[in-house]
Amino acid sequence: MREGGLVAIPTETVYGLAANALDENAVRNIFLAKGRPQDNPLIIHISSIDWLPKYAYDIPKAAYDLAEAYWPGPMTMILKRRPIVPAIVSAGLDTVAIRFPSHPVASAVIAEAGVPLAAPSANLSGKPSPTKAEHVLWDLDGKIDAVLDGGECAVGLESTVVTLCGDRPRLLRPGGITPEQLRSVLGDIEIDRAVLEKLSEGTRVASPGMKYKHYAPKAHVTIVKGDINAFSAYIRQKEKDSVILCFDDEEKLWDKQSVTYGEENDSLSQAQRLFDALRHLDEIGAKTVYARCPKIDGVGLAVYNRLLRAAGFDVVEL
Ligand code: TXA
Ligand code: MG
Repeated sequence: MREGGLVAIPTETVYGLAANALDENAVRNIFLAKGRPQDNPLIIHISSIDWLPKYAYDIPKAAYDLAEAYWPGPMTMILKRRPIVPAIVSAGLDTVAIRFPSHPVASAVIAEAGVPLAAPSANLSGKPSPTKAEHVLWDLDGKIDAVLDGGECAVGLESTVVTLCGDRPRLLRPGGITPEQLRSVLGDIEIDRAVLEKLSEGTRVASPGMKYKHYAPKAHVTIVKGDINAFSAYIRQKEKDSVILCFDDEEKLWDKQSVTYGEENDSLSQAQRLFDALRHLDEIGAKTVYARCPKIDGVGLAVYNRLLRAAGFDVVEL
C-alpha cells in the first residue's frame, strides 16, 4: 500500500478496496479496478478520532458527539475537506466522507499505514458489496494486489452515511447505525429522499452512490409486500423456474427454489446475509426472483434500502 498498491481489507460492514487516500494515482487505480463512475466519491478510513481535524475543517460539535458515541463503528460522516485530501477522492466535491472502522484488522492496517485509506466496497461497480473474501476474488481477482481474509463481515451492509455539511444533519445512506441512534445524539435528523425513493434521471443527489442501480444480481427481482399467505398465493401463479428470496425456514412452504436471507423478525441477521444471498442468486442462475419484504424499522431500513436497489425499485403491494 505504501507503494500505491490496492489491498482489499475486511471491515465490520463489508470488505473495502483500500489504498493510500493521499496518493492520487493509487486512488485513481481504485476507480479503474472497480469500474466505478468518476463522479462517485470515496470514503477515507482513519484509526483515531484525533485524525479528524487533519482531513476535515470547520468540524461541528455534533461530529465529535457522533464520533464519541459510534466510533469505531459502521458510521461515516461527511465534513468539509482539507486540501491535503486529493480532489479525486471526493470526485471533486469540497466535502470528504470519513469513517473509523471497528474491525481489528482494518484499524491495525490503517494505524500501521499511518495514512488514511480510501476504501469503497471491494466489489465491481453495480454488484452486491462483498461480505466474504471469496466475494472479493470473484469480482476483482487479477485486478488487485491482495485481499486480507478476515472471515465474514459482522454487519453485512455498508456504513450509515450522515452529512453534517448542511443546515441540519441528514441521513444519506442507512446502515448499521440506525436513524434512532443518530437522533439520540443529534436530536432531529432529515432522511434524504433518495433513501426510499427512486429519483428521476438528472436529479441532483447529495450522495452520488445512491443514484446508481446497485447491489444488483443478474436476475429481475421483485419485492412482494404482504403477509405470508398472500405471498404464497401470489407466487403460486408465477413461472415454475422463478426463485424465491425469503426468510429462514420459509422455503418448505412452496415448491419453488428458494434462497434465504435471515430470520423474519431479526433485521441484523437479514443485514448480515442479504448480499451473500444476492450473489447466490447469480450462482444458481436465477432469472426471475420474488422477494419477501423486510421490516423497515431500525437496521431494517438499511436492508430495505439495499433490496429496493437490487430490485430496481420494482415493488408489488398485495
Ligand atoms: O461501510 C462502508 O462504508 C464501506 C466500508 C469499506 O467502509 N465502504 C463503502 O464505500 O460502502 P462505497 O464507496 O461503496 O460507498 C460510499 C458512499 C457512496 O454512496 C458515496 O456516494 C458516498 O458514500 N460518499 C462518499 N463521499 C461523499 C461525499 N463527500 N458526499 C456525499 N456522499 C459521499
Ligand atoms: Mg459500494
